[in-house]
Amino acid sequence: MNRMKGRFIAFEGIDGSGKSTQINLLKKRIEQCQAPCYETLEPSTGPIGSLLRQYLSGRMKADERTLAALFAADRLDHLLNETDGICPKLESGIHVICDRYLLSSYAYQSVRVPLDWVMQLNAAAADTLHPDCHIFIDVAPDITLERMAKERFHKDLFETKERLTEVRNRYLELIDRLREQETIILIDGNQSMEQVSDDIWNRTKHFFL
Ligand code: TMP
Repeated sequence: MNRMKGRFIAFEGIDGSGKSTQINLLKKRIEQCQAPCYETLEPSTGPIGSLLRQYLSGRMKADERTLAALFAADRLDHLLNETDGICPKLESGIHVICDRYLLSSYAYQSVRVPLDWVMQLNAAAADTLHPDCHIFIDVAPDITLERMAKERFHKDLFETKERLTEVRNRYLELIDRLREQETIILIDGNQSMEQVSDDIWNRTKHFFL
């Protein structure tokens, strides 16, 4: 458990794995328990997050080390900023669900930048807040790419089969490596939306009931 009054749940998965649908469903279930819940995402909607979205869409280009540093800076601002930071919300007793957190940087950036370096960049965020649990929704890249092709025309920077395959492998390696220190729940994302939602609730409801 983190030391704050609210619980902090981080959702993880490759692009198109269905995180946002599942976050909405989990938020509804938490609110049905009469508990306040705030949903947020990374890259954040703050200034560094907006800059990152421009790189992800291909409108601007940068070396992947620069992107790794920006993701880490965005995360720290997302935790600490006074307007809508995650930590002030948790301290006031609001539960927070975040679409992506530390493991996204570890999995995506370590494809091009050494993992130790990515971890060092994120040390301030990791020292500040560990999720009560990370939920990794596992779906094969072929399936998520097909889903995304049906839903939209453009592709973001990392949305290629090669990159997403490497990212998924890294997520699976990280789950193995961090098993002792972190609570990471692996969910089979190939099931129906309702089944995935039930699985997530069964593994997390003890935080809220
Ligand atoms: P999303 O809005 O679909 O989750 O896309 C955000 C993209 O940014 C996705 O390709 C993953 C990537 N990303 C990283 O590479 N590192 C990070 O730390 C975060 C938060 C996102």
